[in-house]
Amino acid sequence: MKALCFSGIQPTNVIHIGNYIGALKQWSDLQHRYPCYFCVVDLHAVTVTQDPKLLRENILNTAATYLAVGIDPKRSRLFIQSEVKEHAELGWLLGTIVKIAELQRMTQFKDKSKKRGESVGVGLFTYPALMAADILLYDTTVVPVGEDQMQHVELTRTIARRFNQQFGDTFVVPESLIQTTGARIMGLDDPTEKMSKSARSPMNYIALTDDDDTVRKKVMRAVTDSGDDVSYDPKKKPAISNLLTIYHHMTGTHLKDTEKKFSGKGYGDFKKALAEAVIEHIAPVRRKIAEYRKDPQQLMKLLDEGRDAACEAAEKKMNLVRDRMGLGRR
Ligand code: AMP
Ligand code: TRP
Repeated sequence: MKALCFSGIQPTNVIHIGNYIGALKQWSDLQHRYPCYFCVVDLHAVTVTQDPKLLRENILNTAATYLAVGIDPKRSRLFIQSEVKEHAELGWLLGTIVKIAELQRMTQFKDKSKKRGESVGVGLFTYPALMAADILLYDTTVVPVGEDQMQHVELTRTIARRFNQQFGDTFVVPESLIQTTGARIMGLDDPTEKMSKSARSPMNYIALTDDDDTVRKKVMRAVTDSGDDVSYDPKKKPAISNLLTIYHHMTGTHLKDTEKKFSGKGYGDFKKALAEAVIEHIAPVRRKIAEYRKDPQQLMKLLDEGRDAACEAAEKKMNLVRDRMGLGRR
């Protein structure tokens, strides 16, 4: 069986260093090992209210970000989810396979609906069926994601197995690929909650598009723990441990070496070094995003090519699915 990698990011608000460390950074490494599809999942974005004009902007920003972090269009396909109609179609069909009780167990739904009260739409609830469709359409074997998506990939596996059992072998059962460190980057203003696009304050995250001074300001104002020892201990020192994890992913330096380097120096010196390390890493990404957005021709062409390739694969799979389920006519 051919190995294939699929992943996606919602084109909402900003893309932050949590998304980068937890997902994007491994994507650009993986493309050297597997054929990859990287999708801008706009149908997922509309599970909460979006401003249509802003959504279109964010879709192109997200696609530009994929390229700016090193997704190579010669190796990987990038495309926009809503331009391949089969995602919505298979999402519907898988909604008939998944159980209500299974969806009720999804922590992301519980968190998001709690924050939004009664006003959440049904789409937010059935979202894991759509995510399963994204993955299963392409015979995906590996799904590189941050820790928060592990439960959705597990459910995708359950759905695939159940479908195969009921209708005959149709889907490959995929596996998630989660990093050992950095799979859950915490908020700079609150190290007990994950860094999030939908955070109330921009002080929660560093966006890949933040300018140098903004990065400095956000890092220097990041919450720290009591004491002034730069040491890694996620239980007792969640804030500084989170910053150390970010430093590790920005510089490649081992935690132990960083602890040694800053021993006796206090939080201030470490934060200054962290801010400069983040800037060094993300400033080129920010500049590349701006370049791709300024000259959209290339981006449009790549998205057309990605869409065409994805459509071809997705159409084939959907023909098989309709056949297996006995839908329509032969
Ligand atoms: P989203 O922002 O929900 O579209 O997430 C896009 C990708 O980034 C998914 O693979 C998430 O698991 C990952 N991700 C989101 N937030 C974080 C975080 N705070 N730390 C690590 N990975 C994250
Ligand atoms: N649900 C994912 C998130 O919020 C995004 C996503 C949608 C995804 N479809 C996917 C990730 C398929 C991996 C594979 O982050």
